[in-house]
Amino acid sequence: MINLTRGVPAVESYALDEFVAAFKSAIAEDGNRAMSYVASPGYPPLIEWIAAEEKVRTDQVLIGNSSLEFLHFISMVETEPGERVFLESPSYDRANLLMKRRGLETVGIPLRTDGVDLDVLESEIKKGRPKFFYLIPDFQNPMGTTTSLEKRRAIAELARKYDFRVLEDVPYRQLRYSGEDLPTIASMAPERVIKMSSYSKTLAPGLRIGVLIGDTDFLNRVKVYAGNTYIGPVSPTQALTYQFLKLGFFEPNLKKIHALYGPRLKKTLEILDAELPNAVYPKPEGGFFVGVTLPEGNDMETLLPRAKEAGLNLTDGRGFYLNPEDGRRFLRIPFCGLNETELEKAFGVLLPLLSR
Ligand SMILES: Cc1ncc(COP(=O)(O)O)c(C=O)c1O
Repeated sequence: MINLTRGVPAVESYALDEFVAAFKSAIAEDGNRAMSYVASPGYPPLIEWIAAEEKVRTDQVLIGNSSLEFLHFISMVETEPGERVFLESPSYDRANLLMKRRGLETVGIPLRTDGVDLDVLESEIKKGRPKFFYLIPDFQNPMGTTTSLEKRRAIAELARKYDFRVLEDVPYRQLRYSGEDLPTIASMAPERVIKMSSYSKTLAPGLRIGVLIGDTDFLNRVKVYAGNTYIGPVSPTQALTYQFLKLGFFEPNLKKIHALYGPRLKKTLEILDAELPNAVYPKPEGGFFVGVTLPEGNDMETLLPRAKEAGLNLTDGRGFYLNPEDGRRFLRIPFCGLNETELEKAFGVLLPLLSR
């Protein structure tokens, strides 16, 4: 079976030798603390490291067991069932799921190639201010799009004007293979925006380290909920990550994974350009995904089982839409997990199954 399903880093991206060295240092230097309960907000040396990198105070950093769980905690702490939240449409399928699970009124703001439709955003705000707007401005999951500078400024401005919070999820931000970084929305409205990130895509998802950066009162509310749930986040992987950073392994590793993923993205776009001229997709400059709206005549309902039969596992595009019907022709290509030859093979199986 070929898997073109989830946004999981390629196993060949894992810096195993460096992890061994970092974990040895973590235990040798601070083993007793690393192996004990380390209460929320997290392992102090890692908190200090992140605060210095982000140029914030240490009480503006909260570490947890994955950013996904933070999304769950935030929904529990900051919202009551029936309240309104906004997400991009399409958005990360698990974010959609968690917001629905909390019984929230979920509003999808249509995503264009340069970020959400601002007219729809403002008109939805006027109908009812959201508790928060969750978005992924860098190399969005599932589309691969990046929100433009103008739209980032406009979203920061709207958050101020209408007094709502923005949850800026940036796990792919450091995975840029071409073009220039844009400033975060958090940098434009630090009092309104909570930045959420993770080491899952840059180091390894098994670490389960998520990070929140922003307003101390907001973080404190999440910290209390987290602490009451699990005392503190898993500490050995935090100590390991801290040593990985301190020993200078992060930047060389980032370069290595750029060199791994950049050509995979290029190959994917080459195949799409050549083979699917009637499909609609953006040209991402980084991340793990290209989101493809297939031409009329395709339908996930029939495509998924046919692909499976042919030896290819795909993710159901309907999960990325709050209204699943909108995703019937939506296919997310997670190019991260397959090398160029494997991508050619995967498309070799997929293309004959499509109406083109
Ligand atoms: C946008 C986005 N946020 C969060 C996550 C989950 O990250 P973590 O492993 O930290 O839970 C993912 C993983 O696919 C993602 O794409």
